[in-house]
Amino acid sequence: MRIILAPMEGLVDAPIRETLTKVGGIDRCVTEFIRVTHSMLPPRVFYKFAPELHNHSLTRVGTPVAVQLLGSDPEQMGWHGNRAAELGATQVDINFGCPAKTVNKHKGGCVLMREPELMHNIVAAVRKAVPEGVPVTAKMRLGYDDRSMGVACAQALEAAGAEEIVIHARSKVDGYKPPAYWEEIAKAREAVKCKVIANGEI
Ligand SMILES: Cc1cc2nc3c(=O)[nH]c(=O)nc-3n(C[C@H](O)[C@H](O)[C@H](O)COP(=O)(O)O)c2cc1C
Repeated sequence: MRIILAPMEGLVDAPIRETLTKVGGIDRCVTEFIRVTHSMLPPRVFYKFAPELHNHSLTRVGTPVAVQLLGSDPEQMGWHGNRAAELGATQVDINFGCPAKTVNKHKGGCVLMREPELMHNIVAAVRKAVPEGVPVTAKMRLGYDDRSMGVACAQALEAAGAEEIVIHARSKVDGYKPPAYWEEIAKAREAVKCKVIANGEI
């Protein structure tokens, strides 16, 4: 069993990752999301979100850190995944879980769960653009409007080449309210062969 520190924008930044991984018990961390829009971000943005890139993508005690991207344009996401890998990322993680209004309004995060085909195209583009040895992973919820999209979206991500899927066991509408619907994670897990990681109320 592995324990992965959930990404939290504005909270789980590099100093917190350093502090918590030093305490121990964490097998991997994820950066805050880097928002990909219409133009190529300069390396300094990647280094700002992921200073661990200067240290082989590891925190000081050696815990691996994945670079997290959020966006909806497959081509741009591919370019940014490639750039992250060029700068030293050892894992590229894609955010399909963010419920924030501004993000969703610009077709990023959880709203993409209404369109499994677009999720597929995003992950496929990143997979194609990132060197083979660098895993491409994704984090999603159970759906946007309700909890009915977990299986379809997990299958779309796997078909696109996602090596691992984290499932936050709530819909966008559920927000962060307890409970988390772990039984829905089981359904998605049975529908795919790739690794599935449970998230929510853990
Ligand atoms: C303040 C805050 C920021 C978050 N930022 C991110 C993020 O950048 N990327 C992401 O995939 N999930 C993000 N999440 C979701 C968490 O990673 C996690 O999925 C969620 O908190 C569910 O777990 P919990 O029930 O244990 O809180 C955020 C959650 C919170 C509360």
